[in-house]
Amino acid sequence: MDFIAQLKAQVDIVGVIQEYVRLKKAGATYKGLCPFHTEKTPSFTVNPARQFFYCHGCHVGGDVLRFVELQERLTFFEALKMLAERHGIAMPKREGLSDESTKLRGALFEMHAIAEAEFRSALHSPAGAAARDYLKRRGVGEAACDQFGLGLALKGGSRLVQRFQKEGFTPEEIETSGLGLRREEGGLYDRFRGRLMFPIHSESGKIIAFGGRALEPEDQPKYLNSPETPIYKKGSVLYNLHRAKEGVRKADRSVLVEGYMDVIGVWSSGVAEVVASCGTALTAQQVQSVRRHSANMVLNFDPDSAGAAAAEKSIQMLLDEHMRIRIVALEGGLDPDEFVQKHGPEAYRQRLDGAKNYFHWLADRARSRFDMRSAEGRVAVFQFLLPAIQGLGDKLERGSVVNDVAGYLQVEPGLVLENFRKLAVDRKEKVLAPPAAELIRPLDRILLGALLSSAEAREHWLPEIRQMRCIERSAGRRLYLGLAGLADSGAEITFGALHARLEEADQKILCQNLLREDEGGTLEQAAACMDQLRLEEATLRLTELKGQIKEAERSGNLAEALRLYGELQGGEKGV
Ligand code: UTP
Ligand code: MN
Repeated sequence: MDFIAQLKAQVDIVGVIQEYVRLKKAGATYKGLCPFHTEKTPSFTVNPARQFFYCHGCHVGGDVLRFVELQERLTFFEALKMLAERHGIAMPKREGLSDESTKLRGALFEMHAIAEAEFRSALHSPAGAAARDYLKRRGVGEAACDQFGLGLALKGGSRLVQRFQKEGFTPEEIETSGLGLRREEGGLYDRFRGRLMFPIHSESGKIIAFGGRALEPEDQPKYLNSPETPIYKKGSVLYNLHRAKEGVRKADRSVLVEGYMDVIGVWSSGVAEVVASCGTALTAQQVQSVRRHSANMVLNFDPDSAGAAAAEKSIQMLLDEHMRIRIVALEGGLDPDEFVQKHGPEAYRQRLDGAKNYFHWLADRARSRFDMRSAEGRVAVFQFLLPAIQGLGDKLERGSVVNDVAGYLQVEPGLVLENFRKLAVDRKEKVLAPPAAELIRPLDRILLGALLSSAEAREHWLPEIRQMRCIERSAGRRLYLGLAGLADSGAEITFGALHARLEEADQKILCQNLLREDEGGTLEQAAACMDQLRLEEATLRLTELKGQIKEAERSGNLAEALRLYGELQGGEKGV
């Protein structure tokens, strides 16, 4: 077995995918919400026996390596390496197992790991005394400091760059990493100098970037972040997700805050499900990465007007992504971290648990803009809220929210309904029904399933099937032929190997028919299907014979007609 096959045999595809997607058992398969497109009902399927995943909605599918590639945005080699490392499987040392972009990315990962170690040790060195003091003043204890890998970039000009050079990284690699900058007159220097460093991790826990906080108020900007690099795409990373995902699943909610310090403060108050968006506007990709673990989210942005505006802007996108949103507005102008420091973890957790539904929060915001004493004002507030309510995908939920908000604002229910109906007519239902699957006959499905999983079935039936003409009419014909081709080549016969041999249209047929939760017929059933197929074949041959006989008679070739006739009689006995 080659290394890739060996690796695939040793890792459990369900276990690996479950790290990213909540899966529920459904017959012979597992189902969950697809991580590669937005959906409300699960069409993402993992079939452990076939070692394959497939989304019936967006048709993405593949083996465990393909999943890791797509999910972690890795190259094939990186996915291989990551899975091997996680499962303690030694990689064969072959230069062939790498390519240019993998090498560069590997160098970048390494440089980030080195940088983190350097920053950490600087924080604990004598030169880090002031930074340690600063953290203490801000209530960040030793434990949190270690857990979050906080460090210090010293003031000097090019310590880190020099270390990289000593380790043999090229100037191009150093510049591409974003950790070194090029001087106009040539030479490299450190991007981060005199800053408190927050490592940023990918979902699998690799360091891919840093945020650096100024230690002096006069240092600008307050936070300096890594630029985008081949391993860091700002818009697809949530700070702390790799640590929080367990917590998000357990609590069945995530808590979204704005800043690094907020994450650390909230985490330290015992809320393990906290993430932040790294100082950019929240993106759909970020939301999708957390929704895989829970569809509930509590937004706790800063109480300033920028924070509120950010929350308001995020709501529509969150609704589009089918999130259930609640919002915490902390009093006293405190951000989450400050609130925890001032009022303690218990008080903070209470505020989270009592978070308001987003439409109540929106209503409260709108109240201050309109005159709530007049009926017109109240209706205006209601109209202000309508777009967000419209964003709710579920009709029943929409209706109940409308009633709820009308009550909350004390608006005439009649007026509400009228307004709502008008808008409801305009609303285009975004229904993304998965396209109907191209199902092949149950007979072919059972037989192909048996041929895929049983060597015995292949040995008995494959030679016979490949002689059959009736197969040519089956929608699954190229699947049969593919299996026969695989058998000829002597390769190991797996679902993935067959998939790899097929054209795209047939890959689809394979996935739609042979990863089903209700599949898995017995060998006896398959044998019965085989008998049925033989019958079909015989009937087909007879029809053909009759045609040939007619043809021979017409052309006056009586000897041939008689011979064929004899064959026909023999054949009919067989049927
Ligand atoms: P805040 O200014 O609220 O910072 O910015 P904070 O996290 O609460 O930190 P402290 O408490 O002042 O120390 C929120 C987030 O916005 C991004 C950072 O990710 C920060 O954590 N940000 C802020 C930047 O990227 N650059 C900046 O200059 C400021
Ligand atoms: Mn803060």
